[in-house]
Amino acid sequence: MTTEIWLDTDPGFDDWMAWALLQAEPGLRLAGVSVVAGNAPLRHTLANALRIQTLHGWTTPVHAGCERPLVQAPVTAQDVLGESAMATTGRSLPPAQAQAAPGHGVQALIDAARARPGQLTLLALGPLTNVATAFDAAPDLPALLQAIVLMGGSTDRGNTTAVAEFNIHADPEAAARVFGAGVPLVMFGLNVCRQVLVGDEHVRAVRALGTERAELFADHLDAYVGIARRRGAAHMAVYDPTPVAWLARPELFSVAPAHVDVELEGRLTRGMTVCEFRVPARARPNARVAMAADGPAVMAWALQGLARALA
Ligand code: RIB
Ligand code: CA
Repeated sequence: MTTEIWLDTDPGFDDWMAWALLQAEPGLRLAGVSVVAGNAPLRHTLANALRIQTLHGWTTPVHAGCERPLVQAPVTAQDVLGESAMATTGRSLPPAQAQAAPGHGVQALIDAARARPGQLTLLALGPLTNVATAFDAAPDLPALLQAIVLMGGSTDRGNTTAVAEFNIHADPEAAARVFGAGVPLVMFGLNVCRQVLVGDEHVRAVRALGTERAELFADHLDAYVGIARRRGAAHMAVYDPTPVAWLARPELFSVAPAHVDVELEGRLTRGMTVCEFRVPARARPNARVAMAADGPAVMAWALQGLARALA
């Protein structure tokens, strides 16, 4: 059975890895892409998306989405990921040969869901600004989606603050809107992504594929692992590919029902995903939260997918 996917993304290297694995997975079909500001301003994330599309020769329409959060001032991850959020230790993505598809990414998502009621799974890998804006513009949208599968939040430590993960921290109001929309939702937070690790051995394995695309991807993977190296660690958590792995190999994960709320007021806790697992006794469940992953098996799956995507 094929799962129809709408990808909302803020490329970012790990978004690129997730997109490539999605394209390479036989049971997943990409209906469209909306780009959001996040890792870097929209001008960078959109340019990265169009350059990724050009490198791979993909033809799925890529739409520009929202360039600023619902309420707060924009924040980015450029301090960690560099100006373009696409750091490399060598080769760079080619210049884009395609333009963004006509129409705003929010309207494109709404139109795609209305064209296939109940058939579309939304894979959200960046701040949830596009998704929340779509829900506000189209009150019928939540009921039209089969599910939302997202990388964001955490059941424990944050990465941007002590308790907030970047995608949620970048637009907490949007995240609160999405978790409260009543769509079946699966959350892949930092807690589970930190069980899926990538290191020099994976850089070597990608280079061993022997193609120009693989060398170019490996240069970016090397820079991504470099984030961990600079912190004295040998491995970096793999974020955005993790929900794609679940879509393809759910048996490699365990998930638990929970009620997830997003803190909006706390001076120290704004952007925290507060996960109540005592459901339904203490709260109505509104999500399934990924709690465990077989990290080595996920990376073995990922290397097989990258071999197809980078051929
Ligand atoms: O916290 C990790 C998330 O923030 C990932 O989606 C990464 O691409 C950045 O958007
Ligand atoms: Ca992302």
